[in-house]
Amino acid sequence: MSFTTIDQATPRLHRSELAVPGSTPSLFEKAAKSAADVIFLDLEDAVAPDDKEQARKNTVAALNDVDWGGKTMSVRINGLDTHYMYRDVVDLVENCPRLDMLLIPKIGVPADVYALDMLVTQIEQAAKRGKRIGFEVLIETALGLSNVEAIAQSSRRLEAMAFGAGDFAASMRMRTTVIGGLNPDHGVLTDPGAGGERRFYQTDPWHAAQVRMAVACRAWGLRPVDGPYGDFKDPDGYVSAAKRVAALGYEGKWAIHPSQIALANQVFSPSPQEIEKARRIVEAMEQAAKEGRGAVQLDGRLVDIASIRMAQNLLKKAESITAASRAH
Ligand code: GLV
Ligand code: MG
Repeated sequence: MSFTTIDQATPRLHRSELAVPGSTPSLFEKAAKSAADVIFLDLEDAVAPDDKEQARKNTVAALNDVDWGGKTMSVRINGLDTHYMYRDVVDLVENCPRLDMLLIPKIGVPADVYALDMLVTQIEQAAKRGKRIGFEVLIETALGLSNVEAIAQSSRRLEAMAFGAGDFAASMRMRTTVIGGLNPDHGVLTDPGAGGERRFYQTDPWHAAQVRMAVACRAWGLRPVDGPYGDFKDPDGYVSAAKRVAALGYEGKWAIHPSQIALANQVFSPSPQEIEKARRIVEAMEQAAKEGRGAVQLDGRLVDIASIRMAQNLLKKAESITAASRAH
């Protein structure tokens, strides 16, 4: 462990994050009753330019009038390169005490976050807000990813980063068609085997970017979250994408359709078997400590003090899930 201690962001369950267009109020009640851990009402890319003002009004009203239960409520504001953004921030932070986080798209440099922090701080002070607004930023451009480590340290309001495969692909000129999907050209052709045969294995074009963002998040105490998977009629594809990032340490994934919420909650919750295994690791290590040993065998495998840390992370996650389900 480094001597440097990093504060961890406000702990929140963030397995599923449901996207709801601010321009479609008919979806709000159903979203509020869903099992999503986090909801963001969208003022950005799901809303056409002509609907921006109305979507903002709907969103302010919905944050005040709809019963969102114990959910974390967020709003995706418009980008810093548009003139909609300042009014989004002013209206939301002045008028919506229920708001927990702002989701900020297309962050490119740390100063983007700084500018928003300054604006939000002023409004919070003037409006005498009780609850401090947290930030989730979207890493979805080449510039954002190239500055991701600096962005991760840019504001104490930062809680989470989301990887946005749609805009990232556009920014990189990647050859993908479906948001968050794969490309059959992206893979490896094996060297010929003994009989000259070769196999093609499709590989994951998002991996390098997703890992880089996750490292920046974990280094600086933030939650890494994976963004959208556009083909909502493909639950297997969604689950496979979610499992890949869960294996890398991500906390959760967006749901752009209500059917994806349960899938995300399932993938990002430890299974009963994993919980049981973690308990046994903790017990085995407690026993080892009593015997003055740092490592022991469990089911024929080595477990050591690092295993306890992994097991404790998992048990802590399981406890927060149980606590949240009691609160609902
Ligand atoms: C999300 O905003 C994305 O661009 O994928
Ligand atoms: Mg985007």
